Parts: sequence; C-alpha cells; structure tokens
Amino acid sequence: MSVHSDIRKITTHVLHEMKLRGEKIAMLTAYDYSMAKIIDQSGIDIILVGDSASNVMAGHESTLPITLDEMIYHASSVVRAVKRALVVVDLPFGSYQGNSKLALSAAIRIMKETGAHAVKMEGGAEIKESVERILSAGIPVLGHLGLTPQSIHKFGTYVVRAKEDAEAEKLVEDAHLLEETGCFGIVLEKIPAKLAGKVASELRIPIIGIGAGSQVDGQVLVIHDMLGITQEFSPRFLRRYHNLSEEMKGAVSNYIKDVKDCDFPNDQESY
Ligand code: KIV
Repeated sequence: MSVHSDIRKITTHVLHEMKLRGEKIAMLTAYDYSMAKIIDQSGIDIILVGDSASNVMAGHESTLPITLDEMIYHASSVVRAVKRALVVVDLPFGSYQGNSKLALSAAIRIMKETGAHAVKMEGGAEIKESVERILSAGIPVLGHLGLTPQSIHKFGTYVVRAKEDAEAEKLVEDAHLLEETGCFGIVLEKIPAKLAGKVASELRIPIIGIGAGSQVDGQVLVIHDMLGITQEFSPRFLRRYHNLSEEMKGAVSNYIKDVKDCDFPNDQESY
C-alpha cells in the first residue's frame, strides 16, 4: 500500500499557477485538529496557523503574548488533520525581529516539530535579514504587510494603514523587496483596495488580502470571525457566514435543560 495519497496537495508552486491563471486563493486560519480537518475537507487552499490564536484561543488582547512553544502546539495539531492544504505558521512576536540566527532557529523548530509547510512573518525591509536566512534554509516564507498586529503598540490603533502617500510608497517598496528576497506570497491586511490592487498587479507572487479589497489574488479570514464564534469583533471587511455562537448557545441550553429535566440520557443512550 502506498503511503502517498492521490490528493493533489497545494504547494507554493500550485499557488503561483493559480495566480497565473487568475484563480483566486482561499485561506482561513485554524488552530486545532478538529477545525483543521473540517476546513481541509471543504477544499481550502491555505490554512494559516495564525498568531491570532493568541486572541481567539487564549483570550489575550493582542497577538504579542503567544509563545513559540504555543504556536508549535497549535500547528502540530493542525498538521495532523490536513491532507491537502498548504499549512503556514506565524512566527510569533519576538522570535524573528532583530536577530536572524534566532529567527532561523525558530523557523526550523516550527518546520521540524510541526510538519508545517511554510512560515509567515510581519514586516518589510526591517526583517529582510531574517527572511533571507530562513529562505536560505529552504523554508518558504509568506510576507505580511499593512496592518501588522505584532506592531500594534507602534500603530496605537487597528485602523486602516497606508492611507497616506508616504506609508503607501513604503508598503509598495517593501512588497517588491519581499518578492525579490524570495517570499512565495504576501498577506496585505487592512489597506485601501486600490493600493492592494496595485501591489497585486505589479508582483508575480500571490497577494492574499484581509480587508484589502477584491483586486488581490486571494482572501484570508480568521475562522472564528467568519463562523460567528467571536461576537464582539465586527470590522467592515468581515463577512460572517454563520452565527455559530448563537447556534452553540442554543444547543448548550437544550443540553442543560435535558439534563435538568432527567430527559438525557434515555434508555437507548444507556448501557
Ligand atoms: O494571525 C492571523 O490570523 C493573521 C491573519 C489575520 C492574516 O495573521
């Protein structure tokens, strides 16, 4: 029996082909085995083990507290479930800024200990050395520009980035630099749609947007937001495909009632 399946796995090469033929790339986050399995079986192209786990899994206010060990725990759970999608893991805050040797060892830990396929890093020129060193080890890197949540204390707020010319010019320069350095794609978060469209048309690598309009090569959302599990977060760019928090509360209330009324378990549910 072959250990290889017939499924055509998504690779960075496949993503480039998708951009060339104009097929949009669909990406979602996942942080655990069960959710990753459902998303992968639904046909998603990329699963991002985002450091948004810090918010939606751990309840922190920002992505800064999550550790490399915690990211490795989430990523290895996801990888065990995935048969088709490309799995990308966020390098957490503090693991790659400022020291490219530490950056490489963090990326190597992720690849070795999780079995993921690529890492994602926030920033442009300022992280070039770390990106280069990681790429030189054969680890694919997805860039992330625009609103980069690991820099929230520099920005001060989560408002739309790069509305002013100077910041927009720097973003375009950084996007070119990441492409030239060898990144296989870039996430653009919360920037004007026109600017994102310009970057997507100038670059050969796929550009994945979140709050960056429709003129890019693909879209990413946080799974808890698009399923309506998170309730308090509703930026303009978010389309909710379900109201799962209400459905879950309904199911849990029914369960509580059945237990209190001695209706669960019944005879068929007992041994
Ligand atoms: O951590 C994350 O979920 C992300 C996406 C919002 C792109 O970086």
